[in-house]
Amino acid sequence: MHNKITIVGAGHVGATAAQLAAYREIGDIVLVDIAEGIPQGKGLDLQESGPLEYFDCSLIGTNNYEDTANSDVVVITAGVPRKPGMSREDLLNTNVKIVKSVTEEVVKYSPESIIIVVSNPLDAMVYVTKKVSGFPKNRVMGMAGVLDSARFRAFIAMELNVSMEDTQAMVLGTHGDLMVPLPRYSTVSGISVTELLSKEKIDSIIERTRKGGGEIVSLLKAGSAYYAPGSAIVQMVESILRDKKRILPCAAYLEGEYGITGIFMGVPVKLGRKGVEEIIEIALTDEEKTAFMKSADAVKNTIKNL
Ligand code: APR
Repeated sequence: MHNKITIVGAGHVGATAAQLAAYREIGDIVLVDIAEGIPQGKGLDLQESGPLEYFDCSLIGTNNYEDTANSDVVVITAGVPRKPGMSREDLLNTNVKIVKSVTEEVVKYSPESIIIVVSNPLDAMVYVTKKVSGFPKNRVMGMAGVLDSARFRAFIAMELNVSMEDTQAMVLGTHGDLMVPLPRYSTVSGISVTELLSKEKIDSIIERTRKGGGEIVSLLKAGSAYYAPGSAIVQMVESILRDKKRILPCAAYLEGEYGITGIFMGVPVKLGRKGVEEIIEIALTDEEKTAFMKSADAVKNTIKNL
């Protein structure tokens, strides 16, 4: 039997993730959305690419959560994206209502699922899903760190004119301007970028990474990024459903790790069939610790405004 993946929100991010997941045959996919016809149309269109892309999983679109029943993984992308000049926090009031109602439906039909939240502001939305679902912490997580790290990796590879494949990076903390890119743990074929780039260069790449989402929003004008977010989602889904146990930065619910309790923060986790199977605690320098705590304060502030 195939794994079943539900993607809530058949917009830019949701449909891109569905396409990539289908190409990799990770599982059968259900796209669900409130907009009538959109998930059905995109689902059918994607299904019709099967003979050309050689995949055999099924793709359907629906407005009915009954069709999502017994999903193994549910990805929540429902909500509104940013427009130029908006911060992720500006989406809070609209998206909290959407994410709450979506989570209730997901829990009703897929009580054993693993939920990956993508809607922004991410660290608050994943908190809402955890509270509303009552799921254990291993089965609720947020997608942010994989995307932020991918942006950091891309900028490093572009600067050095080396393969993206050989470039690794780690970005922790909140999904926003106070994210914490860690150059010490970012490498090209195992060589720390601190050996390869000047401090000024690294600082400017960090700054671009922090504003990476905003850079795309200001170019697109009518929405936010979706190709890299779609890829980041699929990397997480694949690690879970294929039990790959990859170590990826994800928003995980902290209970004392890194000295923080009761909020979601981007930290390195082991992702396998049980979801977040382990939170990896790495040693941070005083400077990194201060940045991480500042990041945590920002998340706490957003949650307080819920
Ligand atoms: N239930 C299901 N789907 C919903 C609901 C709901 N209650 N409310 C809105 N949606 C759907 C919309 O109909 C739309 O199809 O969510 C989809 C969002 O798609 P886009 O507007 O294209 O937004 P997208 O770029 O995909 O971003 C979605 O991901 O990265 C984050 O910040 C981004 O919060 C945003 C989310």
